[in-house]
Amino acid sequence: MVSNSTPTAPGDRIRRWVLVCLNRACRKAGAAQVLTALRCDGDSKAEIVAADCLGQCGNGPMILVLPDEVWYAHLCPRDAAAIADLHLTQPEFGPT
Ligand code: FES
Repeated sequence: MVSNSTPTAPGDRIRRWVLVCLNRACRKAGAAQVLTALRCDGDSKAEIVAADCLGQCGNGPMILVLPDEVWYAHLCPRDAAAIADLHLTQPEFGPT
């Protein structure tokens, strides 16, 4: 996994991790812009992490939100901003 995470303020509890694939296929499809949009619009309690291949190369740009285990595919920066506003601001839900 590539580390290039968003810093958080001391005392903040990370509630979620958002893995953003920046491997070749996703990068070619615009993953860097998705990463930027998530970092600009994201909840400060979600750590946005640049990741290696998530194994879904034909569906990029791909992200995986943990611990929710929610995948998003074929993202554009506008989608990423909506995810930041609508998903990352909600209480987390983990695997059942
Ligand atoms: S290159 Fe992004 S999931 Fe494989």
